[in-house]
Amino acid sequence: MTDSSILSISGLSLMFGGLKALDNVDIDMKRGEVLCIIGPNGAGKTTLFNCITGFLRPSSGSIVYDGGIELTGKKPHQIAGYGIYRSFQNLALFNRLSVLENMLIGGLKRKDLSYGILDAMLATRRFREIEGRLRQEAMETLRFTGIEKRGRTKAGDLSYGERKLLELARGLITRPRLFLLDEPAAGLNPTEKAELVTVIRRIREQEINVVLIEHDMRFVSDIANWIVVLDYGKKLAEGPPEDVKKNKAVIEAYLGT
Ligand SMILES: Nc1ncnc2c1ncn2[C@@H]1O[C@H](COP(=O)(O)OP(=O)(O)O)[C@@H](O)[C@H]1O
Ligand SMILES: [Mg+2]
Repeated sequence: MTDSSILSISGLSLMFGGLKALDNVDIDMKRGEVLCIIGPNGAGKTTLFNCITGFLRPSSGSIVYDGGIELTGKKPHQIAGYGIYRSFQNLALFNRLSVLENMLIGGLKRKDLSYGILDAMLATRRFREIEGRLRQEAMETLRFTGIEKRGRTKAGDLSYGERKLLELARGLITRPRLFLLDEPAAGLNPTEKAELVTVIRRIREQEINVVLIEHDMRFVSDIANWIVVLDYGKKLAEGPPEDVKKNKAVIEAYLGT
């Protein structure tokens, strides 16, 4: 680990009964990078996110964030408080609420954009100010992800691709420093995937550190600075996309030869 690391994982293992879902994994993520975790189904990718975000406690190993904060043993809300945001593989939006309302709820997670129930009931000046800023930021963030025209639409009426973009926007309004995306491209058509790549590039330009889980190698090569390949819970290979694509062990794991 060096000062240039935003995330430094070492010797991470996690057992589910007799199954080693993660087996002695080391990952060093530099600041400002897009790190992609790839690997076949069941390789341990989501489990890794669950360890980083405190939903699962690893059997051994450490996860150091931002040059010194040990994440293992901390509760999910504490970890979220460090600016680590995670999107889920299955969308978790409020389908009956509008896009804008979904954004407002996301924004309330931010300390500088939240107010007390009493402020809201009395419609205090503080409430009106914050409410105004919250709406403005919500709209700006929707614009950033390209779905600002859908503000009044119910989340449940969006196309699948738009829902994915809303999910991203809802994460972005919390201003994460480390943004964990679990298979954001799954189920998207090629046009939607291209849009997603554009948005992820823009996110990187905002100096947000992005970790992306994906299994489509082509998608990953377009945006990753560094790829870590997991297979049966072990790190099989890592490196820049050009190298990983040529790696024999990786090709074998993917083609099953
Ligand atoms: N809560 C759980 N209990 C038991 N086994 C689990 C649990 N979650 C995941 N697993 C198993 O751990 C392995 C890794 O799963 P996962 O991290 O979801 O893989 P990936 O996201 O790479 O597809 C799989 O074999 C999966 O069946
Ligand atoms: Mg998964």
